[in-house]
Amino acid sequence: MSRTAIAILSTENLLHNLAVIKEKVKPAKIIAMVKANAYGHGIRSVALRLDKHVDMLGVASIDEALALRKTGVNVPILLSEGVFEPNELLVAATEKFHVVFHNELQVEWLEKVSLPLPLEAWVKINTGMGRLGFGIEQAKEFYRRISSSPSIAKPVRVMSHFACSDEADHPLNQQQIQVFKDFIKDMQSEFSFCNSGGIFNFPDVHYDYVRPGLALYGISPVKGKSAQDLNLKPVMTLQTSLISTQIFKKGASVGYGARYQCPEDMPVGIIAFGYGDGYPITAQDGTPILVNNVECSLVGRVSMDMIAVDLRNCPYAKIGDPVTLWGTGLPLERVVEHTSNITWDLLTGVQNRVRFLWTRS
Ligand SMILES: Cc1ncc(COP(=O)(O)O)c(C=O)c1O
Repeated sequence: MSRTAIAILSTENLLHNLAVIKEKVKPAKIIAMVKANAYGHGIRSVALRLDKHVDMLGVASIDEALALRKTGVNVPILLSEGVFEPNELLVAATEKFHVVFHNELQVEWLEKVSLPLPLEAWVKINTGMGRLGFGIEQAKEFYRRISSSPSIAKPVRVMSHFACSDEADHPLNQQQIQVFKDFIKDMQSEFSFCNSGGIFNFPDVHYDYVRPGLALYGISPVKGKSAQDLNLKPVMTLQTSLISTQIFKKGASVGYGARYQCPEDMPVGIIAFGYGDGYPITAQDGTPILVNNVECSLVGRVSMDMIAVDLRNCPYAKIGDPVTLWGTGLPLERVVEHTSNITWDLLTGVQNRVRFLWTRS
């Protein structure tokens, strides 16, 4: 028998989450973020399911965008980090990619090129995230330079990105919003500010386009609120099975480094899933795991292909019984609390050797 690790991906939940987001932000348009292999869900599968339902898809690089075009995705695609080389401008114009400009070199490339079709452009400004984007003092001048290029479609749009949108009360949020508002005052264009956290925490700044990632995949982007509170449903459910059960004696240790010692005679199961499949190596004893839909907990250090589970809550579990690591029945947000990871990296970390199965509906 082959390994049983599967990621079950729910088309229904993906479209449900999109509908929840649309309702929340209307009439704003949706740029669905599918970068990083659609947060580990499979970029082609997700994009084909969203193609007809969103206004744009967002990726990190032109390779991701071209892979989508090859798959038959027709919707506009945002290159959220812009072009990495000057020759990508020509490809972007021909393929109807929207290009973000965030540094001077990209503007110089634009000024030297002549494009056969008008390029859709965005200027990214740094309102406080401190990653990409023109500093606010020079941003107007770069906006003017980009807008005056004959190769550019008008008007050039403006975007920025939150640093702390998951924490509604973080003071940086209001500072960033104010900087953005001041910048776009009196501008006639389209604007975008919100990722998932912003969509739920800052409805006043949805503007023309929102850029959901995490929420689309059914994970809560708001600290202190569960996905269920926000009516989001997990798209990915990770399942596998038990490949061993044993009774260990009081004092026996479990796994590498003997991190866990059994406090009493107890049943311990071994699960066919490890960090080589994408389970977080930082998961601590007590991380929740469902065995036969009963909540049990991880014991011992995560191995490459296996983890161990305390079966005292499920003493009759046997080899072959189903295990859920996260997804429907066990929110990823609960798992991540027992690790030093974040929800985004757990999703993007699921490896190729896990089989991906999409539901049809
Ligand atoms: C520019 C930009 N917009 C939107 C998103 C989506 O963010 P989230 O997954 O928090 O919705 C990201 C994600 O990193 C991003 O970099």
